[in-house]
Amino acid sequence: MPRLSEKLTLELNAQMGREFSASNQYLAMAIYLDDKSLSDLANFYYRQSEEERQHALKFMHYVLDADALPVVPELPKPKSDFESVEEIAEMSLSMEREVTGCIHNLVDLAMEERDHSTNRFLQWFVEEQIEEEATFNRLLDVTRQSTNLLLIDQYVSRLEPTGGPDEGA
Ligand SMILES: [Fe+2]
Ligand SMILES: [Fe+2]
Repeated sequence: MPRLSEKLTLELNAQMGREFSASNQYLAMAIYLDDKSLSDLANFYYRQSEEERQHALKFMHYVLDADALPVVPELPKPKSDFESVEEIAEMSLSMEREVTGCIHNLVDLAMEERDHSTNRFLQWFVEEQIEEEATFNRLLDVTRQSTNLLLIDQYVSRLEPTGGPDEGA
């Protein structure tokens, strides 16, 4: 009997796709910001994009290690034009909240199936999402409180992505 159920394999693959989509969306945001010469913000989003790619690869390796087959998905076209930095921060936070919901649904499924290995694997992402939501909440606060784009750009250099729960602690 394979270690991963068909249903969990499908859902973990779907989550890998969402992480790749987030990576592409953050890349599109980075390009928009870079084009506006908001370099620190752009760099923050380039790093965020890279982080999401690493998340996708974590799911890919987990599925492979569990003797199931990850499938590289077709990805939706990311949004590339924005009204403001605030719109970007709002969209980022709502993307992260959606991902948190998806991760929690995956944990529910793993628990229903009494798949302790997958549950353990997913706990890293449960923690990571707490940090991700907090980071984008702070960015959104700052963009709402300041109309000065250069100040926002400077502030963001203090919002380093942590690289995940087991790093930088
Ligand atoms: Fe992620
Ligand atoms: Fe994220």
